[in-house]
Amino acid sequence: MDALELIKGRRSIRRYRPEPVERDKVIYCLEAARWAPSAGNRQPWEFIVVTEPETRKRLAEVHRWGRHMAEAPVVVVALADPSRDPSYWQQDLGAAIQNLMLAAYSQGLGTCWIGVSGNPEYEEKFREILGVPSHLRVVAAITLGYPAEAPSKDRRPLDEIVHWERYGRRQ
Ligand SMILES: Cc1cc2nc3c(=O)[nH]c(=O)nc-3n(C[C@H](O)[C@H](O)[C@H](O)COP(=O)(O)O)c2cc1C
Repeated sequence: MDALELIKGRRSIRRYRPEPVERDKVIYCLEAARWAPSAGNRQPWEFIVVTEPETRKRLAEVHRWGRHMAEAPVVVVALADPSRDPSYWQQDLGAAIQNLMLAAYSQGLGTCWIGVSGNPEYEEKFREILGVPSHLRVVAAITLGYPAEAPSKDRRPLDEIVHWERYGRRQ
């Protein structure tokens, strides 16, 4: 699939079919995350793969906008070690998560990015449930599974967000 086709075709999926995701597909997605660009190649990321229904249910109960973690057969929790890169860990993690999601889509899987680090209460509860040590940040959870919906979304047009050469120059 062409790169733009892949990027534009991916949608956030919040309804999943019950069948499990093959382990090699999960590894494929994690491999894509591992090869994301990283400032100074410091790679401040780690990942927890959660498939246990009881754990997914507990995570879903914590997060108001992450209830679909209970239904998705896999939840990948993305962690950051800010001591590896205090300045750029957030950008690195964003790149890794996007890689993971696009790789998943290329395998026929649906994903949804669920932000965690923006809410201290969610982050603390995720930390407790998953036993994450205190030097790591819980950045996001990504649900993974075969989609049971096909939602549509739009984006702001290019001419509204792009400036040529200087701010405000539209062409
Ligand atoms: C940093 C970040 C946090 C997000 N957090 C949530 C979330 O908590 N729950 C959720 O259902 N979707 C979440 N999303 C997904 C967005 O809602 C979604 O990407 C957006 O509506 C555009 O839809 P699309 O991904 O289908 O193009 C998040 C996305 C990002 C990038």
